[in-house]
Amino acid sequence: MSKRVVLVTGGAGFIGSHVVDAFIEKGHTVIVLDDLSSGNFDFVNKEAVFVEGDIRSPQIAEIFEQYSPDVICHHASQIDVRKSVDDPAYDADVNIRGSLNLLELAVAHKVKKFIFASTGGAIYGTPAQLPADEQCIPRPECPYGTSKFCVEQYIMLFSRMYNLSYTILRYPNVFGPRQSPEGEAGVCSIFAGLMLDGNTPVLYGKGKAFRDYVYVGDIAAANLLALDKGAGETINLGSEKAITVKELFTHIAHLTEYKGKATLKPLRRGEVEGIYITGSKAAQVLGWKPEVSLSDGLKKTVDFIRAQREKEKAGDTE
Ligand SMILES: NC(=O)c1ccc[n+]([C@@H]2O[C@H](COP(=O)([O-])OP(=O)(O)OC[C@H]3O[C@@H](n4cnc5c(N)ncnc54)[C@H](O)[C@@H]3O)[C@@H](O)[C@H]2O)c1
Repeated sequence: MSKRVVLVTGGAGFIGSHVVDAFIEKGHTVIVLDDLSSGNFDFVNKEAVFVEGDIRSPQIAEIFEQYSPDVICHHASQIDVRKSVDDPAYDADVNIRGSLNLLELAVAHKVKKFIFASTGGAIYGTPAQLPADEQCIPRPECPYGTSKFCVEQYIMLFSRMYNLSYTILRYPNVFGPRQSPEGEAGVCSIFAGLMLDGNTPVLYGKGKAFRDYVYVGDIAAANLLALDKGAGETINLGSEKAITVKELFTHIAHLTEYKGKATLKPLRRGEVEGIYITGSKAAQVLGWKPEVSLSDGLKKTVDFIRAQREKEKAGDTE
């Protein structure tokens, strides 16, 4: 495998930072572009070049002039479904306009491949069949899903117009260390954070909503494979296993020794009742399958948040 120069946008974020680690571990050179709006500088691999900046800014052209990346691995995004419902124009501005800026720079600077972190969880809406495969017609039920779908369309257009090589990866619910327990997205970390603090989690969809969960290290592995495989393809990275929110609650309660109850509430606007997606095309095209089980991944997630809480406590008493 030849060594590349990879620009990872959103490389200070939850998934992006693991992707950066995976690239660096294999000897690639990585430049991280992140505005730190939800990312954390401490998560950025020390061997990566870090540039603080906005994907919408014309100034990021300087990164292309200075480093000539071979690959853009695009993770920077507004990821909050509820925020996208409240402010669809902001969601479109970051996700669509920001991605278009990168696509134009990719073409102008002869980038060899564009890898895009899309969403299987929010693009398909409520599909006619489950698990949803790549043939399902996207019918997003929130602006975030629509903006991601729109970016996919621009990527394919740029491929037709300018011969830009790409792989679109549609993620399920991704979980693992470094996902924020304070955010609005990332139910595993949110539940774990609340339960470790003795607070009551809310189960939207009254506990019956279901999703599939893939560990972040497995998602990073798929990005690594996409450096060499999957050109011109849109690929789901699903586990093909549906887990209800109630099941997730029970699992995490066990790991955190939480004895309290949960509050049940209906789904919020923009959330689908149930979605889980395939992984068979990823197996065929990328040679990928998820390796980390839900229970092992949840344990790593809980251990990470527990360690963070302990660090915070130690900091408070210093
Ligand atoms: N977490 C999931 O379950 C999931 C599921 C499907 C798809 N995805 C996609 O994966 C990608 C990463 O998501 P994540 O969960 O790691 O979220 P995250 O919020 O941890 O990471 C996003 C990163 O992008 C940065 N960012 C946001 N706006 C920016 C801008 N305008 N310019 C530069 N940087 C900016 C943030 O600071 C952050 O570091 C996103 O594209 C998201 O849509 C995530």
